[in-house]
Amino acid sequence: MWNLDGKTALVTGGTKGIGRATVKELLSLGAKVIFTSRSQKDIDDFESELQEHSYICNGIVSDVSIEDDQDRLTDFVFERSGSLDILVNNAGINIRKDATHYEPEEYRKILEINLIAPFELTRKFYALLKRSGKASVINIASVAGSQDVKSGAPYAMSKSGLLQQTRSLASEWAEHNIRVNSVSPWYTRTPLTTEVLDNESRIAKIIERTPLNRVAEPEEMASAIAFLAMDKASYITGQNIIVDGGLSANAL
Ligand SMILES: NC(=O)c1ccc[n+]([C@@H]2O[C@H](COP(=O)([O-])OP(=O)(O)OC[C@H]3O[C@@H](n4cnc5c(N)ncnc54)[C@H](OP(=O)(O)O)[C@@H]3O)[C@@H](O)[C@H]2O)c1
Repeated sequence: MWNLDGKTALVTGGTKGIGRATVKELLSLGAKVIFTSRSQKDIDDFESELQEHSYICNGIVSDVSIEDDQDRLTDFVFERSGSLDILVNNAGINIRKDATHYEPEEYRKILEINLIAPFELTRKFYALLKRSGKASVINIASVAGSQDVKSGAPYAMSKSGLLQQTRSLASEWAEHNIRVNSVSPWYTRTPLTTEVLDNESRIAKIIERTPLNRVAEPEEMASAIAFLAMDKASYITGQNIIVDGGLSANAL
């Protein structure tokens, strides 16, 4: 059971950062993987890289916050697989500002993409997840959902909501053997965090607070995600795995 042979997975935001590493990890463990991006070019480039390894994968252009795209995505997965074993709600954004500086459309967009879209997508995939017989939904939350890490309040609110969404759906859907968990990354080297990690005083402070003395690589999030996707994690649901280099265990 330390593999994903025969399983079909969907990863939103699969061409960059943590999503990209997750697509590769799930493929290497034997899953058939469908991934999304808003850019056809990014999909084509990533698909050709993956096909060199003879992996079975399909990219599809989709914006997780657009209802028509969500429906096309559901149809796409249904046509290719008939059911869905693994759903990784990874797509996410941030706009970092002081609370009083946000325009309503900015914080609404953060909540729309990071919180509402995973709820809508997961609901739309309910029938296909149920048909799997042993499905795993993995929401990519954040340390920012549990502690203030100066990410901006709307991002923290969205991730905190996603943590409760995880617990609520885990409880509601357990009777169909649909497990729902989350992974909460600490700072990970991806395009999302380039601005923060390029700021010398900010990165020094982050590393000083992190017992493992470094930020994470996307592959280190992908391993936790892959574990939750496996049947080896069959009794784990409603949980949040904090992958933070020891940050949350460290008071001083
Ligand atoms: N990196 C970190 O330190 C960190 C820490 C905690 C949590 N996280 C969470 O981890 C997840 C992945 O982040 P990352 O660091 O890998 O970010 P990233 O490198 O910026 O990648 C974000 C991904 O989300 C996709 N995306 C954004 N808006 C979308 C939309 N409206 N519809 C569809 N896809 C959309 C992007 O796809 P396209 O641009 O290709 O369309 C991209 O693949 C996010 O949920 C983030 O909040 C990251």
